Amino acid sequence: MARHLITSALPYINGVKHLGNLVGSMLPADVAARALRAQGHEVLAICATDEHGTPAELAALAEGVDVAEYCTRTHELQRSLGEQFGLSWDWFGRTSRPQNHRMTNHFARRLRDEGYLQVRATQQVYSVADGRFLPDRYVVGTCPNCGYVKARGDQCESCGKPLDPTDLIEPRSAVSGSTELEVRESQHVFLLQSVLSDRIREWVDSHDGWPQLTTSIAHKWLDEGLEDRGITRDLAWGVPVDPDDFPEAAGKVWYVWFDAPIGYLGATLEWAEDQHGEGTAESWATFERWWRTDRGAEDVTYTEFMAKDNVPFHTLSFPATLLGSGEPWKLVDRLKSFNWLTYYGGKFSTSDHRGVFMSDALDLLPADYWRWYLMANAPESDDSSFTWQLFGEAVNKDLVGTFGNLVNRTATQVSRHFGEVVPEGGEPGQEEADLWQRVDERLGEYLTHLDALEFRKATAALRALWAEGNGYLEVREPWKTVKVDRDRTACTLRNALDLLVVIAVASDPFVPASTATLRAAFPEVAWESLPLDAGLTTSARLAPGAPFVPPGLLFQKLDADVLAGWEQQFGGTP
Ligand code: MF3
Ligand code: ZN
Repeated sequence: MARHLITSALPYINGVKHLGNLVGSMLPADVAARALRAQGHEVLAICATDEHGTPAELAALAEGVDVAEYCTRTHELQRSLGEQFGLSWDWFGRTSRPQNHRMTNHFARRLRDEGYLQVRATQQVYSVADGRFLPDRYVVGTCPNCGYVKARGDQCESCGKPLDPTDLIEPRSAVSGSTELEVRESQHVFLLQSVLSDRIREWVDSHDGWPQLTTSIAHKWLDEGLEDRGITRDLAWGVPVDPDDFPEAAGKVWYVWFDAPIGYLGATLEWAEDQHGEGTAESWATFERWWRTDRGAEDVTYTEFMAKDNVPFHTLSFPATLLGSGEPWKLVDRLKSFNWLTYYGGKFSTSDHRGVFMSDALDLLPADYWRWYLMANAPESDDSSFTWQLFGEAVNKDLVGTFGNLVNRTATQVSRHFGEVVPEGGEPGQEEADLWQRVDERLGEYLTHLDALEFRKATAALRALWAEGNGYLEVREPWKTVKVDRDRTACTLRNALDLLVVIAVASDPFVPASTATLRAAFPEVAWESLPLDAGLTTSARLAPGAPFVPPGLLFQKLDADVLAGWEQQFGGTP
């Protein structure tokens, strides 16, 4: 039994996440966690909402509520949607909780003591009307390069030119629209990434199993030369800087990208304190067993899941925080990154509500339909595009036509001819030997792909495993043989039921609610004694005469007019 720590990139607090967010981090993390648990490993799966930064402040402002209150409400909404999607986190925390405040200030102190922080004077845009400093992207104006009137102070969205807020013509505040802006001096804490650069490169290069997408992004930034980064902000909402540690930056907060990844540790501490009490030695030990390589985490494999835009933060700045602390923290071992899921080739957009969001999806269909489609089409080697047609195909061909069909045909034949029991009689022959050999091969392929975090390939192997069952039934034709050879038919259907047991265990990572329904059809099976491993095909044999309760239809077919209606409702071609 191995120990696995799994984190998925922490979703921003500002609103319901779309299917692109889901498939880029939370869903694959859940599939991996479920697969490892099914194999009998010890797993800790951690997620949380990423609550700081200006987007949260502005979203709250737009709704006219206090930002803390906004975050509490949206956190609960995200938690509920995640649970309805079957995301089996051990803990879903919040970066705004005291545990993360404590951890963030701890790392800041350590980095300062190790000589990796420096206070520098910077020039910032101050909005007199708003009574606050404005982050670059909240200064808007006309682009000096192309004339676009809504260019942001960090970059022009129209021509792509990187900008400074002071480059903009007729700059104004994105918060209030006020043009009464001044440039004022402000002291900020900088993380000396340039000094840590060689150590980070060495650490990146010590991983040979990382996907190409991950290493190429890390190298691109390392080759360009890591720049020192300001890690404090003139904002009211965030983890406050401890004025005893950094008197020059009193009243400021840590930059959201500094405290957010530390949130993985903060959320783990929340989990530990939830079990063993706040501030107890036992809680701290439970936390350290996953995160400190001198206190038990030396045998932990740590896997992170994220979309590609998050890779620089997880290969460079977060490791800089952990390495620079001078303490033996657990660093990531496997980093699985994803390209973009697009909506008909265009962007899913939270602000324009373009595409399908987690809440919309659950209004239409149960989670397993989406889980299967998304993972079978995960943007692993390239971007992939959501279309209602592809979604319909994944549901109708795979879930209804292959998995559902196998379950339904088997259950119908068994209950019609043998009642609600595992049929007795008959001796297995060559066809059964062939079936189990093929099943072993499929299962082997499936396990290999799961271990490699190759999710599309894993779904293909699982689909092939389902298809073996249908192929077997078509060769053995129990609906015909029942008229002439009852023993042979009993043997066929018993083997088909044995295969359903294998499938119920193997399919859980992708379609957990459906496999729970399938498991309930076998009330006497001791599922805990059936790990998802190469031995599954021999251990999953049912006792003849044991009860079998037909599970009913697992999936509903999606008709073309229903899909067309949804395409209309959500907007299809961009
Ligand atoms: N909130 C970020 C996003 O959605 C991800 C933060 S990941 C963490 O892109 F490491 F910072 F937590
Ligand atoms: Zn421009």
